[in-house]
Amino acid sequence: MENSTFPKNFLWGGATAANQIEGAWNTDGKGDSVDDHYTAGSAQAPRRVTPILEQDAVYPNHRGIDFYHRYREDIALFAEMGFKVYRMSIAWSRIFPHGDDETPNEAGLAFYDRVFEELRKYHIEPLVTISHYESPYALTEKYGGWKNRALIDLYVRYAETIFQRYQKQVKYWLTFNEINMLTNPFGAYIGGGMLPQPERDMRQDCFRALHNQMVASAKAVQVGHRISPDFRIGCMICFMAVYARTCNPADELLTQQFDQIHNMLAGDVQVRGAYPAYANRFFEENHIDVGMTAEDAQTLQKGRVDYYTFSYYMSNCIGADSGETASGNVMGGLKNPYLQTSAWGWQIDPQGLRWVLNRVYDRYQIPIMVVENGLGAEDRVEPDGSICDDYRIDYLKQHIEQMREAVKDGVDLRGYTTLGPIDLVSASTGEMKKRYGFIYVDLQDNGSGTLERRKKKSFDWYKQVIASNGEDL
Ligand code: BG6
Repeated sequence: MENSTFPKNFLWGGATAANQIEGAWNTDGKGDSVDDHYTAGSAQAPRRVTPILEQDAVYPNHRGIDFYHRYREDIALFAEMGFKVYRMSIAWSRIFPHGDDETPNEAGLAFYDRVFEELRKYHIEPLVTISHYESPYALTEKYGGWKNRALIDLYVRYAETIFQRYQKQVKYWLTFNEINMLTNPFGAYIGGGMLPQPERDMRQDCFRALHNQMVASAKAVQVGHRISPDFRIGCMICFMAVYARTCNPADELLTQQFDQIHNMLAGDVQVRGAYPAYANRFFEENHIDVGMTAEDAQTLQKGRVDYYTFSYYMSNCIGADSGETASGNVMGGLKNPYLQTSAWGWQIDPQGLRWVLNRVYDRYQIPIMVVENGLGAEDRVEPDGSICDDYRIDYLKQHIEQMREAVKDGVDLRGYTTLGPIDLVSASTGEMKKRYGFIYVDLQDNGSGTLERRKKKSFDWYKQVIASNGEDL
């Protein structure tokens, strides 16, 4: 559309992760990933990590939504909506089943050849996350996960392998999904491959793991740029907008401190190439030693990312007098009386997205993409087979309106991928019933269902959003 606020080549699309959709967890030589040892859970009952697979437990990522066998049909549906971009991840354990294998698994590499070929058929640009909560489980067993520096070189070898293989098919890369989730114990396992130790304060391990991932990311950026000058390699941050609960300066200060450590620190390092000053005091007071070497400092400086991306679902409040803080997508924080919450307790805050976009752009002045946003909700299939998900349309419409305002504010916003364009296994709870898609998948939490795909009402709505370049909401 000619007079659109969004730039002409704006990248509209959807986002998924291999572990949440592919299934085929031990097919064609794939090794176990951390998600393959993660049981199903719910909002009330957290998922469990089981080092040995239990016969009676349900492992929803083993099946995903069977994208491994149905990718052609799914990509055709994305194309029908007019996707310009598809954010997906490569399962590391499909390429290096144990993470430290001598040679890559050709069958795994060939699978993504086929996926990229299919995308190309429809002129859909892939945006590939190299590691999206799915490191090989063997790295947990053998090395204890990302607190171990040995993983840096293993990751870089994996990244180099896929950069070489797909350099003609892929231009846009993200090094780690929501890397800053390692500032939060929830991220220790899915982000860092480190087994939960409820009796221990894991912060030291988590920040060391974060440091190791940031060094690995910076090395991968350099390797990628050497392989192809066309590559654009970005960071990906889980952005939890936080507001002080009152105008008490103590609340403001606590909010700022939370924001610095949990939202900004990782982006500051990945975009600017060095730890920010505020990190020093935090590390000192919390007795955290990230294991920084002189060589690391140089690596971080040389491996700065080309663009900034983030996920945005909600906001939270922080109050100094309550002793509580907000923390990550999975924890409640304090309630904001001005906002409604989703059925999973996530506070819906479209204006917060404009606020975040302005903050991030003010700080870095590099291109930005919103690479996850969406509403997890239960859907009802009507007797005639239709699914009327007006609540999802409302949520997305309001967020897109706020992105439009941010573009008018001057933010250099290049793309938007909703999670997930097709129903997928929830990362936090392992449920199927927490649905995000424009496309319904007939699969229930108890494993029943035909896996048939069905368009929801939001399917045609998003198609019209894309066709009008974000004008017709
Ligand atoms: C993000 C993850 O934290 O949140 C996604 O990057 C995830 O993988 C998304 O799906 C939504 O969370 P959930 O738990 O509802 O799937």
